[in-house]
Amino acid sequence: MTEKKNPVAAAAEKVVEKVQEAVPPPNEIPGAPSPEVASVKEPAEPREPLPPKHDQRGPDTYSPTGHPTGVPQGDMAQGGAYLTTAQGARLYETDHSLKAGSRGPVLLQDHHLREKITHFDHERIPERVVHARGAAAHGVFKGYGTAGGISKAAFLGKDAETPVFVRFSTVLGSRGSADTVRDTRGFATKFYTDEGVFDLVGNNIPVFFIQDAIKFPDVIHAGKPHPDREIPQAQSAHDTFWDFVTLHTEATHHTLWNMSDRGIPRSYRMMEGFGVHTFRLVNAEGATTLVKFHWKPKLGVHSLVWEEAQITAGMDPDFHRRDLADAIEAGAFPQWELGVQTFPDTEDQMFEGIDLLDPTKIVPEELAPVQPIGLMTLNANPSNYFAETEQVAFHVGHVVPGIDFTDDPLLQGRLFSYLDTQISRLGGPNFGQLPINRTHTPVNDMLRDGMHQTAVHRGVAPYHPNSLDGGCPFLAGEDAGAFVEVPAEVPAARKVRDAAASFDDHFSQARLFWLSMSPTEREHIVAAYTFELGKCWEQAVKERALTVLANIDTDLCAQVAAGLGLPVPEASVPPVDAEPSPALSQVGGEWPVDGRVVGIVTDGADDLDTVRTVRQAVLDVGMVPLVVAPAGGTLGGDADPVVVQRTFTTARSVEFDAILLAGAPTPAPDAYGARDAKVDDNAAAVTGMDPRLLLMVTEAYRHGKAIGVWGEGGSVLEAAGLPADSAGVVTGESASSVLEAVTGLLGGHRAWDRFTPAL
Ligand code: HEM
Repeated sequence: MTEKKNPVAAAAEKVVEKVQEAVPPPNEIPGAPSPEVASVKEPAEPREPLPPKHDQRGPDTYSPTGHPTGVPQGDMAQGGAYLTTAQGARLYETDHSLKAGSRGPVLLQDHHLREKITHFDHERIPERVVHARGAAAHGVFKGYGTAGGISKAAFLGKDAETPVFVRFSTVLGSRGSADTVRDTRGFATKFYTDEGVFDLVGNNIPVFFIQDAIKFPDVIHAGKPHPDREIPQAQSAHDTFWDFVTLHTEATHHTLWNMSDRGIPRSYRMMEGFGVHTFRLVNAEGATTLVKFHWKPKLGVHSLVWEEAQITAGMDPDFHRRDLADAIEAGAFPQWELGVQTFPDTEDQMFEGIDLLDPTKIVPEELAPVQPIGLMTLNANPSNYFAETEQVAFHVGHVVPGIDFTDDPLLQGRLFSYLDTQISRLGGPNFGQLPINRTHTPVNDMLRDGMHQTAVHRGVAPYHPNSLDGGCPFLAGEDAGAFVEVPAEVPAARKVRDAAASFDDHFSQARLFWLSMSPTEREHIVAAYTFELGKCWEQAVKERALTVLANIDTDLCAQVAAGLGLPVPEASVPPVDAEPSPALSQVGGEWPVDGRVVGIVTDGADDLDTVRTVRQAVLDVGMVPLVVAPAGGTLGGDADPVVVQRTFTTARSVEFDAILLAGAPTPAPDAYGARDAKVDDNAAAVTGMDPRLLLMVTEAYRHGKAIGVWGEGGSVLEAAGLPADSAGVVTGESASSVLEAVTGLLGGHRAWDRFTPAL
C-alpha cells in the first residue's frame, strides 16, 4: 500500500492478510479439485460449504463505491448447510419436478423448477469479442521507487505494494478453444492502486497488426473463422487472415512475430508483456517522458515447438491455464519485472528515427535499455472463474495521475472501444461495480441507476454544481490527487483521414526481427509460414504472401516458396540490412526451473527407493514430479507408497519438460493396438517394451527435451533408436547426478544443440 493509506483501507488489508495467513503449505502435486479428499459414499451429514483451496482467493472485499467492507471473502460466497431457493427458503427435494402424479404432467406451480431452469437458461453472457479465451491470477506489485523521477504515480513509489489481477489470453479463439494455438497472447494487468484503478492492457508481442484503430474490425474479421462455415477455430492458418495481412502490409511486422516462436509460448509464466503503445508519464513537477512498458518474466521467454503445440491442443486444450494454476498451487509463484524504455518527449515524438506513435514499431533494447521499476508476483488463483476471470473488465482508459496517453491512433481508438464493448458484454454501464472490478478508492462519480446497479446512493443532487447535497462531490485540484491531462501541444492541422509518411515503412523492422533470430528460430519461422500458407486454399493469397516475404528476406522467401512449390518473386521494396537486436532472440540463456514438470518413468519393479529420492529431489528444486507407470494406484506397498500420477494410457510427452527413465517397462497388459491406438503391436513384439513409452521418449527427443537415464532405463533409448550420446540425453549410474544434469539442461529450456538448422 502507498503512504496515502486511509484507516478503512488498513482494515481491509487486515482481511487480506488474514486470508493469506490461512494459506497452508502448497500441494506437492497440484490439481486436486477440492480442498478435502472426497469420500466414495455421498456425504449425508449437513455441514457448511468447504473453504476454497489453499491457493485460491476471491477479489478483495470492497463496496460497489470503493469502501473496504472488512467482510471476509467467504461471506461473498454461498453459505449455510442446506439447499435453498435464490430467496433463501430451504428445499427438501431437487431431483424431481412437481407433477400431477408420478407419471403425470409437470405443474406450473413448481416455483423451484421454474427458478432453477430460468436461471440456468440465462447463465451465459457474451464472450469477449476478442481475447475470449483466458486465464487469470491474483498477485501483488511492489514498486522499486526508480520511476519517481518520471512519474508521480504513487504505486510506483519505493516499496509501495498494490494488489493486482492479471488475465492472460489468446486473441482469436472462442472461450472454449485450445490454449496452445498459434496466436498473440493478451497480458492485461489491473492495479488496484490507492489513486484508482490502473489497467495496463498489453500483449506478449510488442507491435500490432494495424496502425489505426479503425482497422481493428477488419483485422479481427479476417482472423476469426470464415463467416460461412465458421471454421477454422482459433487459427490464423486460413485464407481470410492471409488475404488481409498480405494486402494490408502494415501487418507484416506483427505477422512475423506471430509466425515466430512467440506465437506458441510454453507458458503464460514464460512470456514477456508489452504495453505496445508509447505512453506519456508525468512527474510531480509536471515534466513529461515518453515510455514503452515491458514485463520481463523471471523464468525467461520460452516457447513450444509446433508439433508439441498441436499435440497439446488435443491432449490438453487447457495446457496454459492448467500450467498457471498448477504453478501457483505448487507455490512456484511467477514473477515479472516491470520496466520502461524512456524517450524524451520531443515535438516530433521520434527516437533514433523511429516513430514512437507507430504501434508497428519497436525501439530495440540496445538503443533504449529497459529500466526496471517494480516487481509483480502472482500468488493466488481465482476462486471462481466466472466471477473473476470472466467478469474482469480492462480498459486502457483506466489511468491514474502520473500516467497519460500519446496520440498513437491505435491507442486513441482503444480508449473508446473497451468501455463500449463492456456495456454489451457485461449487460450495462455498471460493470465497474462487479466485485473484481471495484476500485479500492472511494467512488463519488454522480453516475446513477442503470442495469444491475448495486450501489445504494444517497442524496438528492447527483449533478454539479449543487447546493442541496452540500455541494458534494467537490472537484479536486492537482494537489489533492486529481488526474489532470498533460496540456500537450496539438500542432495546427487540417482534418484528414491519413497517417504520417513514417507510417509507410512496413518492412524494415520485420527485417530487423528476422536478422535478430538464431538459426533454429529462423527454421521455425520458415516452417510456420509454410504451414500457414500451405493451409490456404487460394493460390493468389500464397503468391501475394511470397511477395511480402521477399521484402523481408530473400532466404525466408525462397524457403517458404520451396515448401509451397511456388516460384520466388522479386522484392517490391528491396530488403535493407538493419542492426540485429540480440534481445529479441529467446535462445542461449540460463533461467530458473520453477514449476517445470518432470516425468519419472518406472516399471513399478525397479529400485523404488531411487524413484522416491529423485521424486523428492525434483520437488526440492521447485519442480513438479509426475510418476509414470504401467498402471495407476500406488507402488511399493503401504509403508512409503509412491503414488502414480500417469499411466502409459494417460501420459503423453507434451506434459513434461523433461523425462527421467528409471526402468524399462515391458508391454503393460493394455498395450495392444486394439485397445490403445498409440500402441504399435509390432514394436511391442520386437523391442519387448511398452511402445507407448517409446513413443513418449521419441516425441520428447524430437522436441529437444532433456532425457535422463539410469539403470535399466538405458535399454529404452536403445529400443527407441535414440543415440545415448546426443545433446540433451544424460546417462549415468547415479540418479542424482543424472537429475542434476537434467535440471541444468532445463535451465536452458531445450537441448538446442540437438537441432541442426540449415539456414
Ligand atoms: C496494441 C494493441 C492492442 C492490445 C495490446 C490489446 C490488448 C487486449 C487485451 C489484453 C485484451 C483482453 C483483456 C482481458 O483479458 O479481458 C483485449 C480485449 C479487447 N480489445 Fe484489445 N488490444 C489492442 C488493440 C485493440 C484495438 C485497436 C481495439 C479496438 C479498437 C481493441 C478492442 C478490444 C476489445 C473490444 C476487447 C474485449 C474487451 C472485453 O470484452 O473485456 N483492442 N485487448
